[in-house]
Parts: sequence; C-alpha cells; structure tokens
Amino acid sequence: MAEFMTGLKRTHYCGELRPADIGKEVVVCGWAQRQRDLGQLIFIDLRDRTGIVQLAFDDGTDRAIFEKAFAVRAEFVLAAKGVVRERSSKNMEIPTGEIEIEVTDLRVLAKAETPPFEIVEHSKVKEELRLKYRYLDLRRPDVQDKIIARHKIVKVARDYFDQNGFIEIETPILNKSTPEGARDYLVPSRVFPGSFFALPQSPQLYKQMCMLSGFDRYMQIARCFRDEDLRADRQPEFTQIDLEMSFVDRDEVMEVAEGFMKRVYKEVLGIDLSTPFPRMPYSEAMRRFGSDKPDLRFGMELVDLTPALRGTGFRVFQSAIEAGGSVRGINVKGAAAHMPRKEIDKLTEWVKAYGAKGVAWTKFNEDGTFSSSFEKFLSGEEVSSLRAALSAEAGDLLLVIASEENQVVFDTLGALRCEMAARFDLIDQSKPNLLWIIDFPLFEYDKEENRYVAKHHPFTHPRDEDIDKLESDPAQVHAKAYDLVLNGNEVGGGSIRISNPELQARMFQALGFTPERAQEQFGFLIDAFRYGAPPHGGMAFGLDRLVMLMLGCDSIRDVIAFPKVANSSELMTQSPAPVEQTQLDELGICVVEGEKGETTPNESASHA
Ligand code: AMO
Repeated sequence: MAEFMTGLKRTHYCGELRPADIGKEVVVCGWAQRQRDLGQLIFIDLRDRTGIVQLAFDDGTDRAIFEKAFAVRAEFVLAAKGVVRERSSKNMEIPTGEIEIEVTDLRVLAKAETPPFEIVEHSKVKEELRLKYRYLDLRRPDVQDKIIARHKIVKVARDYFDQNGFIEIETPILNKSTPEGARDYLVPSRVFPGSFFALPQSPQLYKQMCMLSGFDRYMQIARCFRDEDLRADRQPEFTQIDLEMSFVDRDEVMEVAEGFMKRVYKEVLGIDLSTPFPRMPYSEAMRRFGSDKPDLRFGMELVDLTPALRGTGFRVFQSAIEAGGSVRGINVKGAAAHMPRKEIDKLTEWVKAYGAKGVAWTKFNEDGTFSSSFEKFLSGEEVSSLRAALSAEAGDLLLVIASEENQVVFDTLGALRCEMAARFDLIDQSKPNLLWIIDFPLFEYDKEENRYVAKHHPFTHPRDEDIDKLESDPAQVHAKAYDLVLNGNEVGGGSIRISNPELQARMFQALGFTPERAQEQFGFLIDAFRYGAPPHGGMAFGLDRLVMLMLGCDSIRDVIAFPKVANSSELMTQSPAPVEQTQLDELGICVVEGEKGETTPNESASHA
C-alpha cells in the first residue's frame, strides 16, 4: 500500500542540495532512479525535475525504514526526511555529488511497475515507444530540460513584448474557414448542421482587427492548426509568437523582432547576437543559394552555367536552355574521391523529389584527369569554362542541374547544397546565423489552380512602387514582406498589411476572387477598413522551430510536450479516434461507409 505524505512537507528539491546544507534536516520528494543494495548499506538515487540526490540507509537507520528502502524499485515515488551529510565517496559528475541524505523517515507514495524503457538520459529507445509512453519519456532529464527551456523562451517573449508596450490578446479558436493557405481543420456546428468552424491557421485577421480597434500593439502566444504533410520542422498544431503593430513601417517591425531575438538568446543561452541582422533580397537568395531560407553557415553557392553551356550538344542542357530554363551547378570541394558512382546514382533518385529529372556531375580528379556524366558532349573549351565558372580544382565534384523551369533548378540545387554540406560536415555550428529575406514577390503562380496565389497571404501590402503593376504585371509586384531565417530555417515571417479598402479589393481581384466571393469571404475586413484603419504590420515567430533551433534539436517533436507523429496522430491518447454514432447524429454527420475507423492511429503507419 502506498502511504500518504502526512507530516512530510517538502523543504528542498533534490538537485538543489549542496555542501552548504550539511547538517540541515530536509524533506525531498521524487522518483527512485535506482536502488543499490550493498547488504549493510542501501543507496537510493532520488530524482525530481532539478536533478538527483543520494539517499543513504545504513546501520544507524531505523530497521523498519531500512526494510522499506530495501523494497524500493525503480520509479517508485518517495518522500524522504533526513539530515544532509558529506559523502564518503564523492561523485563530482553531478552537482549534488558531494553530499547525501542520511534518511530518518521514508514514505512510499506510489509503487511503479517496471517501465517499458529505462528512464535515463539520451536513451536510444525508438521514438514511437517513447511517444506512446510520453509521460515516462518526459521524466528523462534531457527531455524535460527542453520543455523547461521552452517555458523560459515563452517567458522572455511575454516580458519583452510587455515591456515594449504590447498587449496580449486571446483570439478565437473557432474561426471561419478561409480558402487561402493550407488545409483547415474543421469543427462541425451542432446548432447549424452542415456548417463548420475552422481552427485558426494563424490569428491573422483578428490581430489586424485589434489594430483597427486601437490596441496599437498586440501579441499572443497563439496556437495554430494546419492540416498539411508533416516534416521534421512542421506540426499540425504549433505555436506562434504573434505580433501586430500600428503606425509602423517594415524597419520598425524588424527592429522590434531583432530586439526580441537578441534578448532571448542572451537570457536563455547567454549568447550575444549583433543587430541589425543582415538583409538579403529574395531574388539574390534564390540566385546564390537556391532557397528563400538560405543557410549561410557555409558557402557552396550556386553558379549559373547557362552562358558557358549555351552551345552544348548535350540534349538535356540544350532543351532546358532553349525552353527559357537554366543550367546551374555547385562545387562540392574535395568531394570527388568521396562520392563513388553508386552514391551519385542515389542522388539522381533523390533529386526527383524536387522535380528535377536527374543530376549531371563532373569530377576533377587528383591525378589531373576528369570524368563526367556528360563527358562525350563536352568540348575542351566547355570543360575549361565549367571549371572556371565554379572555381574547380583537383579533387572537386561539380553537381549540375538543368530544367526548363528555373524554380526546379533552384529548389533542387538549393536542397543538394544543404545535403552535401551536411554529408561533408561543412556547417559551422559554433554560432547562430540569422538573416532577413526581404522583397519577396507578392504572388506566385499556382499551376494546378492556373492562377496567381499570395506568396504570404492576401493581406500583404505590395511595395508602393509596384502597386500600378497589380493588374498588368502581377509577377513583377514585390511585397512589403520579410522572413527571418535562422540556420537555414524560416523561424518567422510577416509584412506590412493593406489597410485601404480599395487596394484590398484589387488584391482579391488579382487573386481571382469575384467581388461577390471577396465580399462573402472577407466582407467584414473590407467593411472594417472603411471605418478608419491605421497603417499596420507585424509578424509571427514559429515558437516550436525557434526552440528547436536554439536548443540544437533535430526535430520539432523534441521541444513539444505531446507532439503528433508523421501521420498527424498522437500516440499516447491515440487520437484522432472514431466517435459515438449519437455524436455524429447530433451533428448531422454521416460517415461514408467503409472509411469510418478504417485506420485508427494505432494500426496505421506512424513513422515519427
Ligand atoms: P507563416 O505562415 O509564415 O505566417 O507562419 C509564421 C511562422 O510559423 C512557423 N510555422 C510552423 N511551425 C511549425 N509547424 C508548422 N506547420 C508551421 N507553419 C508555420 C514558421 C513560420 O515562419 N499570419 C502570418 C504571420 C504574419 O504575417 O504576421 C503567418 O502565419 O516558423
């Protein structure tokens, strides 16, 4: 039987005790990390969220207490009273290693079955098992530390924005579905059968309304929901540090954001960031790095080989160039000898995910010879210009991508660049790399929908000098938008917003909305702009990504207490799950036969 704690009130956390506490009577509570029975002596390592302290039971211990200590197993929950004393054999590996507690009273508050995995730091246990028993996984100090660091980051955010005049305002979770952006999570209405709320993809419109209401500076630690395919840096529900400010221009928003980054790095990691962060136009980022979130911790810039290869007899390059596309390459320095044909062939498959048909390569061997996948089409002159364009030396490997679509070339080569840097360990991990990407295009063309869609969202203000091209040349319109990039990841993004009803109506029109549809979807916004809208702008940081990058984690799941896995399910509670027929009836929902409950999260592939 477990005992109540009566009479034992915790005085200290386990990890706090130090030699200065020697002689003090203390009460500690926690989980038994392990029990060591040395016959006349028993030691129990007691763990709470602050660390571990050693409980000692010996000849001097009351026999009943000694017997209790004898029966303790891993993960039992204990309360122990005793006197802090110096340890005879010290363990300098842990902060409490110079002391131990000579126990005078012990209560077993709960027994524990043998856990499915050992609760130790840096466990190698499979993630699926860890997430199924997440409450046990979260007992591991390294896992718990990340959640505690996340708390600190949120606390700094609240303090910083409060001190800078921001008001925290909660916006609704039950929202109206809007057609732009990712797929919505829908919530059926009982009162209006057939009608649905959508969970917010972001509080975008509400925060703009707060500016119209005169709050001037808004912030929220906002939960957002997007039903999109998951990756290591994405979750279907995630958190933003969301901001909006009135009477500001782009630079003022960026300055406030930089101030926050500076403060959070200093307070949480003790790192000084220098501000302002560098800024790079979108077009330059694409041209040099093939990405709108370039990782500048290594070089390997993209080089346009189109001029050097314009007259080539190689069909793949020729047809790409003739169709208005391009041929571009990167130089993976010193990699020629380390990328055998088999590895390069694998890359050919790998690049297909980015839309490229394959990867062409050239190796400049150490012995002065060269080999190339398009060797027989290369003239001596072309080899020299290729070599010069990519500053290739003996030992270098050149990877070349050609496509009729420049975007495919950029996407593929941008990804290859990062892959090669990771493989050959070229990334300088010593300090965080931050930059702003600015001057984004306002629109991008959606081939499937056959229309322009907003690159950020439909409320983004075009650059003033581009407004007159909104109808005549949308592809050339740039936005007053900015993304914050940290170590090659987008950690935040925002823009100055449209606050003029006529301009907003033109924007909806450019996105292919009929005036009726714009009115139906966003009528309240256009109406609101008629009643005095201050110029405003803002941004949102992806909190989960920020924490992940600050803590050097590989996956966003490591910094979320109860994350979802790749198929968007949660393994501990096994949600989503089928519901009672009566619940469906109440909502007027009929599930199409054969699909209901077919793949509960338990059965389906859930590769984290
Ligand atoms: P955006 O869609 O760029 O902008 O989102 C802002 C930031 O949120 C993070 N993020 C995500 N993090 C985890 N999982 C996801 N699925 C996910 N999607 C986005 C990214 C991103 O930079 N309303 C605008 C902001 C604004 O204009 O003020 C918005 O939501 O780090």
